[in-house]
Amino acid sequence: MGRLDGKVAVITGASSGFGLAMAKLFAKEGAKVVGADINPQMPEIAAEIAGDVVGIVADVSKQEDVDAMYALCVEKFGKLDILCNNAGISGPRARMHEYPLEAWDKIFNVNVRGYLMVMQGGLKLMLENGKGSIVNTASVGSFKATPGSPAYIASKGANAMMTKQAAAEYVKDNIRVNAVCPGIFNTGIIDGMSEELRKFLDSQIPMGRIGEPEEMANFALFLASDEASYITGQCYLIDGGRDAM
Ligand SMILES: NC(=O)c1ccc[n+]([C@@H]2O[C@H](COP(=O)([O-])OP(=O)(O)OC[C@H]3O[C@@H](n4cnc5c(N)ncnc54)[C@H](O)[C@@H]3O)[C@@H](O)[C@H]2O)c1
Repeated sequence: MGRLDGKVAVITGASSGFGLAMAKLFAKEGAKVVGADINPQMPEIAAEIAGDVVGIVADVSKQEDVDAMYALCVEKFGKLDILCNNAGISGPRARMHEYPLEAWDKIFNVNVRGYLMVMQGGLKLMLENGKGSIVNTASVGSFKATPGSPAYIASKGANAMMTKQAAAEYVKDNIRVNAVCPGIFNTGIIDGMSEELRKFLDSQIPMGRIGEPEEMANFALFLASDEASYITGQCYLIDGGRDAM
């Protein structure tokens, strides 16, 4: 018996990192999964995941792509129970007074406007379904500044408040909305990082290491499932103990 038997999930950013870890785990726990990503390899990556998983190439900042993602979900699986709104980008580093506006717009277009479009489509299907659970991927950066990353940090702050806003607006519709807020994890975003920087990051974390994407996916599974039936509007830090010290 899987913890998500009978559920249908859409996961964005599903070709790597957290999204891929969630797609694998949710499918293993019995969910039918639509994995969406801007990566052209998404359909092949989905086909290699054990279980009922279908992949679509979709840019979450394009309305027509978001519509196609949900059309595929309804066509293949007939409904939507779970949305993991996860695809996000970081961008160049610069201080606020000289941050390039084009980069700011690009990050907000994906991380904020894109998150909204993905939530809008998901919420409509969940309203039809009479229930649902949304798990947004926010960040430790939703609560703490990182010098040199003003656009990313502001966008992740927005993701946390979008989570609470949606939770308040749809609580009477049996739709729960929560966020996972990862610290530093071993995903695509640390690709190309020097060994020295990696060691420094490890040393900053009380557990002595950065997290693995599966350790985030385990918690997202709980939030997505009916086990979290009394939880909505919350943003959970998953950071190896860093916030406590
Ligand atoms: N890894 C960390 O330490 C960390 C920490 C805090 C928050 N996050 C957040 O986790 C989420 C997932 O990132 P990750 O760490 O797994 O990195 P990742 O780079 O491994 O995965 C992100 C995925 O999103 C996809 N993507 C990017 N832009 C897209 C778009 N416009 N439309 C569709 N797909 C798009 C990428 O192709 C990639 O597959 C992001 O929202 C990120 O901000 C990550």
